[in-house]
Amino acid sequence: MKNIVVLVSGSGTNLQRILDTIDNGEIQNAKVSLIVADRECYGLERAKNHHIENVLIPRGKNFSSELSKVIPENTDLIVLAGFLSILKPEFCENWNGKIINIHPALLPKYGGKGMWGMNVHNAIIEAKEKESGATVHFVTPGIDEGQAILQKSFEVTENDTPETLAQKVHLVEYEIFPIAINKVLGN
Ligand code: GRF
Repeated sequence: MKNIVVLVSGSGTNLQRILDTIDNGEIQNAKVSLIVADRECYGLERAKNHHIENVLIPRGKNFSSELSKVIPENTDLIVLAGFLSILKPEFCENWNGKIINIHPALLPKYGGKGMWGMNVHNAIIEAKEKESGATVHFVTPGIDEGQAILQKSFEVTENDTPETLAQKVHLVEYEIFPIAINKVLGN
């Protein structure tokens, strides 16, 4: 059984999807052993509702070192599921190849500092992009620069707004995240 630690900052619908797909067998041979939040958020409530060990480590300069203390040594995969803090380079290097993130755009486009949440969707509408999508990628010290594991695109239409894009991206994320997790776990 592989042990997954999930990091969240927000509503945690991707976290919920991970929990559901572990329960229904789409993700095999794995369990979420710990959920860490960097702020009060609904993701933490989901952890409690699911009776999964959880901890709130306030965001800030000590976050990565505090995080290192709570992550069990036998962790196979750390999943960033709507997680907004930047992890320190040493932390990323310690867990090299074992940390993944989901990003709401087709990296390498629309990644990097400031490119999170609605900022991404606003920029895509502003630039009149013809497509958007989601990317699951490895986490390395460079923000959103790690190798892509899985990516899926969809067409952006004239009627799309940042809000409709956010909804469409979420649906794509729910589709590719379990597949990418299986892939990284070697399932
Ligand atoms: C997702 O769109 C993810 O790509 C981004 O933040 C959002 C989190 O949504 N990093 P949720 O908290 O999983 O609902």
